[in-house]
Amino acid sequence: YVLGVDLGTSAVKVLLVDEQGTVAAEASRGYPLYHDEPGWSEQEPEDWVEKTVEAIAEAVRGIDPEQVKGISFSGQMHGLVLIDEAGAPLRRAILWNDTRTTAQCRKIETELTLETLHRITKNPALEGFTLPKLLWVQEHEPALFKQAAAFLLPKDYVRFRLNGELGMDYSDAAGTLLLDVANRKWSRKIADTFQLRASLFPPLLESHAEAGTLLPEMQDQTGLRGIPLFAGGADNACGALGTGILQEGSVLSSTGTSGVMLAFEEDGSKDFGGTVHYFNHAVPNAYYTMGVTLAAGHSLSWFKEQLAPDHSFEELLALAEKSPAGARGLLFTPYISGERTPHPDADIRGSFIGLHTSHTLGDMTRAVLEGITFSLNESLQLFREQGKQVHTIIASGGGAKSQLWLQIQADIFGAATGRLESEQGPGLGAAMIAAYGLGWTDSYKELSDRFTKAADLCEPDPDAAAVYARLFPIYQQVYQATAELSR
Ligand code: XUL
Repeated sequence: YVLGVDLGTSAVKVLLVDEQGTVAAEASRGYPLYHDEPGWSEQEPEDWVEKTVEAIAEAVRGIDPEQVKGISFSGQMHGLVLIDEAGAPLRRAILWNDTRTTAQCRKIETELTLETLHRITKNPALEGFTLPKLLWVQEHEPALFKQAAAFLLPKDYVRFRLNGELGMDYSDAAGTLLLDVANRKWSRKIADTFQLRASLFPPLLESHAEAGTLLPEMQDQTGLRGIPLFAGGADNACGALGTGILQEGSVLSSTGTSGVMLAFEEDGSKDFGGTVHYFNHAVPNAYYTMGVTLAAGHSLSWFKEQLAPDHSFEELLALAEKSPAGARGLLFTPYISGERTPHPDADIRGSFIGLHTSHTLGDMTRAVLEGITFSLNESLQLFREQGKQVHTIIASGGGAKSQLWLQIQADIFGAATGRLESEQGPGLGAAMIAAYGLGWTDSYKELSDRFTKAADLCEPDPDAAAVYARLFPIYQQVYQATAELSR
């Protein structure tokens, strides 16, 4: 067996996976988020460690420890963990969904220039990324910042506590805005511009690199032996791995709280001018591009809570099925917590447009599903504008569970859209990294074919696709037309 640990934002999920990719056991533990000020989002690094250890112990209970050969990790991206000389966290972690750093983003763009930022990091300066958080602490908590010996990302801190070694893999480092993404090294230029000491930067690792072994006290707490730990990857990279996004033309559409449109890239040579994220993959030397819809599943859960609290999701989706493509002229934009791609705008607000007295709850639900999918399609359009050929889209998350939403995606994306038979998310990708690191295979493609099976491929329906092709440009106009509402 191998263990895949997925350190998420609301919970850690541990999968025990055998050589065929079958999940033999799983365990999950939640932990709190702290929102002390508007826009702040923090977590206690010690909670991650405690809950990860508990979840591992539960997942391997009853299993001969000799049978568990290695562990790897998937983690929520971008979160800043600052540790002192003794390795203790100096403050709570500042998470990817914390938005306090707008001023630091503007400072990065001014002091580095947009051209240099995009050339080195291949990404825009967004509040969620790590460098703006480092600059915020440097500015607002200077005494604490002086004590910092290193910065880590969430899963790297957990791994450090399990093996005592500092490290960060390329796929997660890519989300810091401190990595020279194409050349795979820390950017001296960026570090010098913002007076960040070289000693703050952890060693860079391949995702499948063996990064030490489980410390004796952690062996006692988990019930495991001194097995190797493999560095692991960013949750989006691990999600891509776990859904087989391993060749040009394959695209992932993932709808959790937020939504992600992610495309495999063979190398780091393209230039998207920061319009989409461009990160190192967990697969050696590969990359992926990605666009983010901030409120995907969140739009649907908000809609249900506010407008149909007595309905289950199943009931709502059954009603939506009765509404035709285009929801009889009703349009929804899912900007209820701002947007990221293609509009990096925390202030934009969502809308229902075109309401008529004859509209039903089913039409409104359908419009929400369509609006979320239109937003994801804007990212897909950015990929296509750069010449990307999209062969197949694999849906994961909420958008894969509903046959209706899967079909809406195929129709709006204009590409065959399928799902996996059983979907395990980024945890499976983490387990695959451990399997690869252990030498179970020398090909991620082979591992992916062994571990996952595609199901339910939906082809676009020409009539519905024509309706959406007409509505999509109207959807795109709504952003500009409503931008002033919230200013
Ligand atoms: C990616 C991002 C989120 C987090 C969630 O840029 O901010 O997807 O990785 O865990």
